[in-house]
Amino acid sequence: MTGIAATFARELSVALKSADAPTNPVTDDVSAWLERFRTALDGVGDAQDDSGAPVKLPAGPAEWLRIARDELDGLPALVSAIHAAASGGRWYQVYAVDEDSTEVSDNPMRDLASGMYAAQMIGPRGLIKSTELLAGLFLLRPRLHYPLHQHQATEIYFGASGTMHVQQGLGRVERALGPGQVSLTPSNRLHALTIGSSPVLLLYTWMGELGGRNWWWHQSDEGVWQRDAWERRPNAAWAKTVTEVLPPEHTKIEEGIDVGRGLQ
Ligand SMILES: [Fe+2]
Repeated sequence: MTGIAATFARELSVALKSADAPTNPVTDDVSAWLERFRTALDGVGDAQDDSGAPVKLPAGPAEWLRIARDELDGLPALVSAIHAAASGGRWYQVYAVDEDSTEVSDNPMRDLASGMYAAQMIGPRGLIKSTELLAGLFLLRPRLHYPLHQHQATEIYFGASGTMHVQQGLGRVERALGPGQVSLTPSNRLHALTIGSSPVLLLYTWMGELGGRNWWWHQSDEGVWQRDAWERRPNAAWAKTVTEVLPPEHTKIEEGIDVGRGLQ
């Protein structure tokens, strides 16, 4: 008998075995990364959940989750593991905004924060504690656009419900990602997500450097690229800590998709 999180890890590992990755460039070695993540997920074994109580979503996001759960399809064991995680998880806003802040116009996270929720199964906030692996559910509001950003951790999104479009790399076209498919984001690759008319439910997993800065990129009216570093404060709110103008050698689209990769 295992817990919700261990079952989730096991079924995600099985799901990754045969998933295709339509949003990745063909030059990415996606299958090798999927195997690395599967090894890490399999290492969870039959660990038990901690004894904390579930945390429910607010009314609006709870309705997105209901719609997403109604649309779940695929292997019964995976669907069952997702339902158990959705019911037993401790849901939270991915980007908690500081309510005392008056920098409304300066904080793009304020709008995004209300559209992104997670229930971590494995990780520092998970039902099983880990500092080396994250895995859980990620729920996104219809029509949300999560702009170009990068982080050190390597990330996998597995589509469970709904369709989104994923952009990997500066200037590249968005590609659709649906249920049963994966998007692999190598360390520090720029990526952006656009949600369609239905809520999207993803299974996510991270490996590598899990903390640190989350860089958000944006372009001025003059075409100059900048990036802002967002970091989690001790009170769990996110704050912009650094802004820097990017030198041209890091923003030349024709150089390929990993233009930001040399930047830390
Ligand atoms: Fe990401």
